[in-house]
Amino acid sequence: MITVDVKTGRPYRVYVGENLLKESGSLISKHVDGRVAVISDSHVAPLYLDSLIDSLRLEGIEAVSKVIPAGEKSKNIRIYEELLDFLAQESITRSDAVIALGGGVVGDIAGFTAATYLRGVPYIQIPTSLLAMVDSSVGGKTAIDLPAGKNLAGAFCQPELVICDPSVLSTLPEDIFRDGCAEVIKYGVLEDPDLFAKLTLEGIGFDRVPVITRCIDIKAAYVAEDEYDNGVRRKLNLGHTFGHAIEAVSRFSMTHGQAVAAGMCMVARASYAMGFCKQACPQGIEQCIRSFDLPVNCEMKTDELLPFIAADKKRRGDVISLIVPRTIGNCDIVPVNADDVKDWLEAGM
Ligand code: GLY
Repeated sequence: MITVDVKTGRPYRVYVGENLLKESGSLISKHVDGRVAVISDSHVAPLYLDSLIDSLRLEGIEAVSKVIPAGEKSKNIRIYEELLDFLAQESITRSDAVIALGGGVVGDIAGFTAATYLRGVPYIQIPTSLLAMVDSSVGGKTAIDLPAGKNLAGAFCQPELVICDPSVLSTLPEDIFRDGCAEVIKYGVLEDPDLFAKLTLEGIGFDRVPVITRCIDIKAAYVAEDEYDNGVRRKLNLGHTFGHAIEAVSRFSMTHGQAVAAGMCMVARASYAMGFCKQACPQGIEQCIRSFDLPVNCEMKTDELLPFIAADKKRRGDVISLIVPRTIGNCDIVPVNADDVKDWLEAGM
């Protein structure tokens, strides 16, 4: 088992190791005195809920559970209310804990429920998708979607601990695993040329534990330096400014990972066109993304994408912060005036 410490205001530990789910009870017993409320979804619960509950019972921890329908559509205010009611009906108190067992949707909504129920109860993340392992389970961003957009209501609230068992990825459908790979590649582009080279060479067959741990390491460092997303943490948005617009224009027929992959290639091509990097940089990123069978471009027109880029959640006044690769392993946060974003987008097509 490998551990990564996340040195936030209230620090916590991420445990990474094959078959950790079966031992999760003993890790959790070090953090929870009372009962636990497990929140999972209809895909994950039939596979892993019993294993988690058995492991908790072995440690004498009493567990109740609630299963929500799988999918992004569940990340809404109605299910959030159901989860609050569930915790209240089960008389969960601040000495108890919520466990999120699932992918990003479960982690986000269970985390938001825990962050707000009784003004905050402890919660534990047990991510079961690649994307949740390397991104959403670490860093304390919790949220639900509103009709106006994704993640529009949420809170920063760090978990008590994160238990990451890559053996559960064996049951993840390959397209969803591949989708999470876009975020893995992102860490290589941001910080680690060796990781990037390994990913380009090995593609989807990369060695799970070391790669996932390295991604969590990088994320943990950003989060420790900038817990509330005002500085270096914004680099995690690499590929996402264009990517979110691509997802929206495609009406979500392009997945998040596909859109981020295309978005990373676009911003890298724009970076070259604007004189921020050498041509080898976008070429290298495209080569890596192709080796994962992810897209390096999108079919959309700049005029279709622009309104969604202008509505970017992270926009501050007239300024959109683009994360721009300089070399593999080194990216800058470049403030771009909203009126100039079109030039960047066109340069990236
Ligand atoms: N998913 C990006 C972040 O946690 O900041």
